[in-house]
Amino acid sequence: MNVDAPDFTALRADFPRARTAAYLDNASSHPISVHSAAALHRYIGWLTDEVGDPWWPQWAATRDEAKLLFAQLINARPEEIAFARSTVESESNLLNGMGEYLAGGNVVTNDLHYGAALYNYQMRLQDGLELRVVKNRNWRIELEDMAKAIDHNTRLVSISLVSNVNGLLAQVKEISELAHAHGALLYADIIQAAGAVPIDVRAMGIDMAACSTFKWLMGVKGFGFLYVRADLQNTVVKPTQHSGGVRQNYPPWTAAPDPAIPEISHTPVPGPGCYEVSYPSYEGAVCAQESLRYILRLGVPHIRAHVRGLAERLQEELPAIGYTSITPRGNESSILAFVAKDPEATMARTRAAGVHVAMRYGDKLRLSPSVYNNHEDIDRLLAALR
Ligand SMILES: Cc1ncc(COP(=O)(O)O)c(C=O)c1O
Repeated sequence: MNVDAPDFTALRADFPRARTAAYLDNASSHPISVHSAAALHRYIGWLTDEVGDPWWPQWAATRDEAKLLFAQLINARPEEIAFARSTVESESNLLNGMGEYLAGGNVVTNDLHYGAALYNYQMRLQDGLELRVVKNRNWRIELEDMAKAIDHNTRLVSISLVSNVNGLLAQVKEISELAHAHGALLYADIIQAAGAVPIDVRAMGIDMAACSTFKWLMGVKGFGFLYVRADLQNTVVKPTQHSGGVRQNYPPWTAAPDPAIPEISHTPVPGPGCYEVSYPSYEGAVCAQESLRYILRLGVPHIRAHVRGLAERLQEELPAIGYTSITPRGNESSILAFVAKDPEATMARTRAAGVHVAMRYGDKLRLSPSVYNNHEDIDRLLAALR
């Protein structure tokens, strides 16, 4: 990891989006860098001009490096990383694979977890799942409320490490200690955290996690990563989907059937590949490989320090012009949210000024600066809102 702070002014050139807008909505979709775009162009060049057998020769190296770099990013081991299609789908697949383990127990989550993930649990109530949703108090999740909800029948605690609603960075270590003290596991949705805040699954006590790459990993949609602690693979978390090789051991599929094996046999993929179905997105992996190199080169602590400078200014200046913050002061993520008195006027003014922001849940102005944003972007936003 880079020990010297990168030149954040110079790296603005890596993101052409910075030239066309003061883009402050990276929590929705982060632009990809010119480096990732070049890698994608190289792959598309091969697809266009050279595709054929043997399949893309760089695949094995790309796959291995992408997993290795992601493992490095979250302090996991490469054997604990699978490719995934989406964060929400991964959490759902994990739940499906934990059917036996969850049976008769309860799951504890909170209302700053992602909406679709919460609904995923809600849908399972009809199958007998006991769900406890801790409500936020003044936009924070209080540890004492989590402690009251977690008991010896809790099998799983599920949180967003960084909330998409107000950017709250969870007190993950304390929550994991609570979970583990009761024999429960901790799952973290890390899509709003990976690449933006330091993650150490070991130190934080995260047992399973997932994200896709189109936010702070500066990648594409429909591709991401799943982390499952090694000892949980194939034990607590069973694979639920077919992966690996299927052999049809009878004519006309084979000229010489092997009497020692059944007519149809399946060889499962060892390791975390057991959670992968068919081919992953090569485009996603190519992009992730390059963007992970980029993020690790910059260093997540430097990324966070840069963004904190911008975030603290937003926390200071927006309330002064009538936008009440719903993000706790000193919160260490890249997302901030404020209540807008007149959401339509706010959106009209920012749009007219070439400032790109998000308005969520009716009146919550969400701002999410990233590596290439600077104080001029914040000046533009403030001028539009005043
Ligand atoms: C906290 C959180 N989880 C999950 C998602 C959805 O991610 P995916 O498309 O990878 O399922 C989002 C996207 O907005 C999010 O903010």
